Parts: sequence; C-alpha cells; structure tokens
Amino acid sequence: MNLKGKNAVITGGGRGLGKAVATALANEGVNIGLTGRNEENLKTVAAELKALGVKATYAVFSVDDEAQVKEGIETLARELGGIDILVNNAGIGDFGKLNDMSTETWEQVIKTNLFGVYYAAKAVYPYMKEAGAGDIVNVASTAGLKGGPNMSAYAASKAAVISLSQSMMAEWRKENIRVITLTPSTIASDMSIQGGLTDGNPDKVLQPEDFAEWVRDILKMNRRAMIASGSIFSTNP
Ligand SMILES: NC(=O)c1ccc[n+]([C@@H]2O[C@H](COP(=O)([O-])OP(=O)(O)OC[C@H]3O[C@@H](n4cnc5c(N)ncnc54)[C@H](OP(=O)(O)O)[C@@H]3O)[C@@H](O)[C@H]2O)c1
Repeated sequence: MNLKGKNAVITGGGRGLGKAVATALANEGVNIGLTGRNEENLKTVAAELKALGVKATYAVFSVDDEAQVKEGIETLARELGGIDILVNNAGIGDFGKLNDMSTETWEQVIKTNLFGVYYAAKAVYPYMKEAGAGDIVNVASTAGLKGGPNMSAYAASKAAVISLSQSMMAEWRKENIRVITLTPSTIASDMSIQGGLTDGNPDKVLQPEDFAEWVRDILKMNRRAMIASGSIFSTNP
C-alpha cells in the first residue's frame, strides 16, 4: 500500500525508536505529528522531517495526563488534517529489584507505559472512526511476554499493554482499524543503553532503524491484511 499523504502521530517521537519510525514514515511521504516532553528534541526532529518534503508538527505533553493527551492529539489532528496512523511508542524503563524500587517509581512506569497507550488510543479513535479506517501500532516488549528479575514494573506495564492492545484490536477491527501489538526485544537506544541492557554495538544489536523498517513494512500491507502481533530480535547479540 502507498502511505504517501497519510497522517501519523508518533508518541515519543523526539528520539530513539519513535524518531526512527517518524523518519521511515516521512520517507514514504507520510505527514508526521510528533509528541514528547522535550521540546528541543521535537523541534529538531520536526525540522529534519520537513526537509524530507512532508508536513511535520509536534505537541509537547506527558502521556500520563489524559487531559494533556487529548488536547495535544486534537491540536495535531487539526494541524495535519486528520489522523490515519498512531504509533503508541512513548515509554519509560525503570529497572531494579521489586523491594528496592519506590512505590512512586513503580506507579509512574505503569502510568506512563499503560495509561499513556490507553489515553492516546482513546484520543485518536474519533478521527479514525470518522475516516472509516486507521492503524494503531502499540509498542509493548518481550518483557511483557515473560517477567524476570529487576523488571517487575516494566514487565507488568508491557504485559498490560499487550492485553489492552488485544482487546482494542478485537473491538476496533470492525471499524477497519488495524491494531498491531509489537513485542520487540532489546534495541540500541537511551533506554536500553542507560539501563545497562546492551552496549548497543551496531554490528550485532538491533538498531532503531531496524524496528522502524519493520513498522513501515507492516503498515504498507494491503488493508485487508493485519499483522496482529510480532516480535523482533537481534540475531546473535
Ligand atoms: N529500546 C529497547 O530495547 C526497547 C525494547 C522493547 C520495547 N521498547 C519500547 O519502545 C518504546 C521506545 O523506547 P526507546 O528505546 O526509544 O526509549 P527512549 O530512547 O528512552 O525514548 C523514550 C521516548 O518516550 C518518550 N516519553 C517517555 N516518557 C514520556 C512521557 N511521560 N510523556 C511523553 N513522552 C514520554 C520520550 O520523550 P521525551 O524525552 O521527549 O519525553 C522518548 O521519546 C518504549 O515504549 C519502550 O518500552 C524499547
């Protein structure tokens, strides 16, 4: 499918996986609405995307605040002229032992990773319903498929995203909205490198552009086909 002229909102689009997805989609002619908390990053990425010949705009908000999410998404929809694609990518990884991590940190991981996905999906739904079609990519993680040491909050948040996304898919596919649940393994980014999960060695470890090409190709499939879920791994990290 040709994606040219479609409008995509990418949460957490100022860096990491979100920035790579924004760039891959802009290279297909997709207009981009970026979101994030760091305005400098968003401004820089928006300028880079515009240089690729597409419309690019941004909204600054935290995904854990429903009112801010709703207002930000409405602004982007107005500026772009509708929303065809949502990439629910914003997330935080806080790692540590269950009994050492503060309750506040634990709650913040759930609020950002789970509620952020819920708020953004709910905010874009009216635009997709009105258009009679849409695509929502929910970025979970392999951590959501199986918990492990030092990741109780992160794994629980991503397991919940998988479950939320499955329910969303079952309800919204009837309105021609494809809901895609992705569970990537470790990819070189601030989160994984600062979190000590990988050294990010590009000879071996998945890079954000690998993830972005995968998302782009899933979205380019004929609308009658929907990849409901998928994982991506480094071959031999
Ligand atoms: N990297 C991996 O190994 C890996 C593996 C599996 C899944 N994932 C998932 O992929 C997604 C992107 O991760 P990444 O590796 O690119 O991480 P990253 O480099 O740390 O970037 C995180 C992004 O999320 C945004 N963000 C975080 N908290 C936010 C909040 N409260 N409100 C709005 N935006 C917020 C950040 O934007 P600002 O800084 O502007 O707020 C940033 O753009 C996450 O959902 C992560 O869980 C990553």
